[in-house]
Amino acid sequence: MKTINNDLVKLGKIIDKTLLSYLKKKKISQKRLSDSLLYSSLGSGKRLRAFMLIETAKAFGSLKPSNDTLIIATALELIHTYSLIHDDLPCMDNSSLRRGKKTSHIEFDEATAILLGDGLQSLAFEMISSHDLAIQNDVKLKIISELSRSIGFNGMVGGQMMDLVSEGRYNKLSPNEKYITQTQKLKTGALIIFSLKAGGIIGGANSKELKILEKFGEKIGLAFQIIDDILDCTSTEGLLGKSVDADLKSGKMTFVTLLGLEQSKLKVRKLIEEAKKEISKIPKDTEKLMMLAEFVEYRKN
Ligand code: IPE
Ligand code: IPE
Ligand code: MG
Ligand code: MG
Ligand code: MG
Repeated sequence: MKTINNDLVKLGKIIDKTLLSYLKKKKISQKRLSDSLLYSSLGSGKRLRAFMLIETAKAFGSLKPSNDTLIIATALELIHTYSLIHDDLPCMDNSSLRRGKKTSHIEFDEATAILLGDGLQSLAFEMISSHDLAIQNDVKLKIISELSRSIGFNGMVGGQMMDLVSEGRYNKLSPNEKYITQTQKLKTGALIIFSLKAGGIIGGANSKELKILEKFGEKIGLAFQIIDDILDCTSTEGLLGKSVDADLKSGKMTFVTLLGLEQSKLKVRKLIEEAKKEISKIPKDTEKLMMLAEFVEYRKN
């Protein structure tokens, strides 16, 4: 089976290079913040969301990603990194391992990790809105508007709140498929949908095509989080590079706790087939996006 593993390794290096060259121009005055930024943002992470953005832009537009596309993809990875740093905090999932290393708040401290997350989020918007980017202002604005919505109260942040509520911290909830689906859709799906749509916007996709990308993203986003939940209880810290058994310990409501492992795997299989069917409606070269859908199901970390 053809996989995107090598593409991701190559892209990882390109994202690191893009970030370092941006940071060279922009001096961060607080050494503790710049040290923690480099520690958390470089050298690891699958860079899957950047891949989604770049490959979608490629399917619709130029074969080679422009510098603007790389900067936007890097900014997107910074937003994702911010979400992980905050997700790992003691008051959230209380995780000590991330991307094969100690989590930010353990390596540095909680205050630094909170500020680092805040700073990464604003750096991402600074990068996308920069005057140096040659893309047209209306395209830029559309991307900024989509991104801010996808990570906000009715997006990722809202989903993270639902995730914590599902632990029974604030009120009692009984396991419920509708609730879990909505949680996953917001906490993980929203940024994945953004990654694909932003690629479409950069590549000049029309509204019908953007709708297809959105549906594709909904399916693979949900599948991605179900696999994450499966790996949490079937994999090891060595393979995953992050804390395992975390969901069970905290009593989170996931598809695994609701349906069990086998039914969850079947659900993923169905979602991936539906996703591939959806993306095949776009009459472009979507081979990499098809391979991405397969990767989501078979990934090992
Ligand atoms: C982990 O995302 C967090 C979830 C949304 C489940 P990834 O598995 O993409 O994390 P990295 O970027 O590869 O570390
Ligand atoms: C994280 O979900 C989602 C976001 C960071 C928005 P998880 O809590 O399941 O991610 P991991 O398992 O810690 O990577
Ligand atoms: Mg979490
Ligand atoms: Mg977590
Ligand atoms: Mg998880």
